[in-house]
Parts: sequence; C-alpha cells; structure tokens
Amino acid sequence: MNSDNPIYILGIESSCDDTSAAVLHNDKILANIVAGQEVHRLYGGVVPELASRAHQQHIVPVVDKALKQAGIKPGDLHGIAYTQGPGLLGSLLVGSSFAKSLGLALGIPVFPIHHMKAHVLAHFIADPDMSPPPFPFICLTVSGGHTQLLKVADHNTFEILGETTDDAAGEAFDKAAKILGLPYPGGPEIDKLAQNGDPKKFTFSKPKVPGLDFSFSGLKTGFRNFVEKNQRSDPEFIRENINDLCASLQHTIIEMLMEQLVVASTQTGIRHIALAGGVSANSSLRKILQATAREKDWVTYIPPLQYCTDNGAMIAIAGWFAYQDSSAGKSSDAARARWAINE
Ligand code: KG4
Ligand code: ZN
Repeated sequence: MNSDNPIYILGIESSCDDTSAAVLHNDKILANIVAGQEVHRLYGGVVPELASRAHQQHIVPVVDKALKQAGIKPGDLHGIAYTQGPGLLGSLLVGSSFAKSLGLALGIPVFPIHHMKAHVLAHFIADPDMSPPPFPFICLTVSGGHTQLLKVADHNTFEILGETTDDAAGEAFDKAAKILGLPYPGGPEIDKLAQNGDPKKFTFSKPKVPGLDFSFSGLKTGFRNFVEKNQRSDPEFIRENINDLCASLQHTIIEMLMEQLVVASTQTGIRHIALAGGVSANSSLRKILQATAREKDWVTYIPPLQYCTDNGAMIAIAGWFAYQDSSAGKSSDAARARWAINE
C-alpha cells in the first residue's frame, strides 16, 4: 500500500494499566499517546477495579490527543484496532466497548487484536530506528503477564516453542521489587539500581524446567527467603545491598531467558532473534542479547523503548495487517481475559 492510497488506523490498548491510543498512516506512526496509572503505585501492583476506572477517565482524552497529534479527524479513519485480550477483563471492556461504539458511529470496521501478537508485530512499524525481522524468526516475548519463546512463521502464525509454567519474567521483576520495598512497576526500578550493582554478588538457584519452558515462581520464593534470612541478622540488609540485590536478581532472570533462547535457536536453526514486551526495555537484557548475538552470529531485532511496554502503536500495526487481510471483527466479539496466542 503506498501513500497515494493512505489508510488511517486508530489503535487502542487497554489490557492492563496503561491507556494508549495511536494513529497509523499505512505502516507509519503519526501519534502514540500513553497515559499511565499512578494510582497502583500505592498498592505495589495493579488493582483491576481501579485500572478499569482509570481507563474510563483516560480513554476519551487519550484518543482525542492522538487524533489531534496525527492531524486527522475521526471521519478520516478507515478502521479501529483494539485489544480484545488477553488481559484484565474490566480494562479490556473499556477499550473494546469504546472502539466498537466509535466504529459503529463512523461506519468503519473494527479489528479485535491479540495483545501478545501485537507486541511481536510492533517490529513491523515503519520506523528509522528499527528494521523488520524476516520470517521465520524467533521472538522472546517478555511482559508482565507472559513469557514466551515464539517461532513466528508469518504475521499471523505463531508457534509456542516454550512459555512460563507459572510467573512471567516481568512478574518476577515486579514481585522481587515489592520484596525490596521498591514501587510498582518494579522492572524499571530494578533496572536503574542494578546499573550500580554487582551482578555476581549474590547467586540464586535457577529452577530446572523441561524443554523450552520457563519457571520464575521458585526464583521469587528463593529470593524472598534469602532476603528475609539476611534481614533477621541485619535489619539494614536491604538498604546496604540494594544495588547488588537488584543486579544479581536481574542477572539471574536474564540468564534464565538467554539459556532457553540459545537452545531454541540451536534446535530450530533460526538465527533471526527478536525481543518484545515490557521487559525488553531492560537495559541489561538488551546488552546481553547483543553480546550473545555477536558470539552466536545471530541477527537481533530490539524495538525502540516506546514499542516495548504497552502502547497503542503495536495494536494499530496489528490492525493494519488485519485491514489488509480483511479480517474485521463483529460488534458481538467479547473481550477475552485469557486467550492463547496460537488459538
Ligand atoms: O508489556 P508490558 O508493558 O505489559 C504487559 O503486557 O504485561 O510489560 C510490563 C512489564 C512489567 O512487569 C514491568 O516491570 C516490566 O514490563 N518492565 C521492565 C522494564 N520496563 C518494564 N522490566 C525490566 N526492566 C525494565 N526496564
Ligand atoms: Zn503487554
């Protein structure tokens, strides 16, 4: 599709605690607005009921701002993509009801999008800071709710090579941060403090799981027991060791991810390796992946930070593919809290 025939797609993301809207002109982003939700910081995690209420407050101003920044009017849109799932049901309902109502009012198609597929498809946004991976490629998708090793055969075919059997990698960061008394979301906090810490100071045992799956729940429990034990003999243990604790924990999580990624690449023979999801914003994971790539002769695809954590742009690009496939949804499509990527 070239610019003689411009298609404008609005993308709406509301699966968790960020309300986001983006406007795409073909595969180029004209606007990508994200409104975070500070309210959850008080509770050390996302409170679903508060998240839905905040989405309701944010959705109209966020969409309005995205359209204004893109310089278009609602009537210029050709389609609306929204996150159908997986995610928090109440949060999904706000975005999906809004998108379907707006689509009905404007008489344009709506495209229900799978959130985890969209994280991967963010790689196909036309952006000078990244290039799209060729099919097939492996994508390590690491977010707050999911951790998956995917073989991506085309923009619609995702094979799960491995996934977490319990907590997600982002959840491991968030739960460890809570143990250390750091605010939510914990990933960026741990990333920041780890930069001044020693990743080899403490070692935590890594649970063994069969095949290419992951397990982070045991690491979290081991980390909590270790911290509590040391606090009993030294009440200042966390304060005195915070940077090293963050660096060592982060190092363990990254090692667990990288070990499986290496096996996945060896088993499939695929050397084009992409990263997606909120945890792919982690500075150390990005560096270690690049170092491993040099060693293993991989070609890596690491998205710019604005496409790592939840954003409307990734929903809009998934909508752009759906528009080309003519796979519009129906007004009866229900939000899906749980939804496998290969369903
Ligand atoms: O993809 P995402 O924005 O939302 C979900 O789909 O879950 O991912 C959010 C997760 C949170 O667990 C957050 O702590 C983590 O991504 N995260 C990070 C970093 N930035 C966000 N984890 C480690 N290092 C970061 N810099
Ligand atoms: Zn996400």
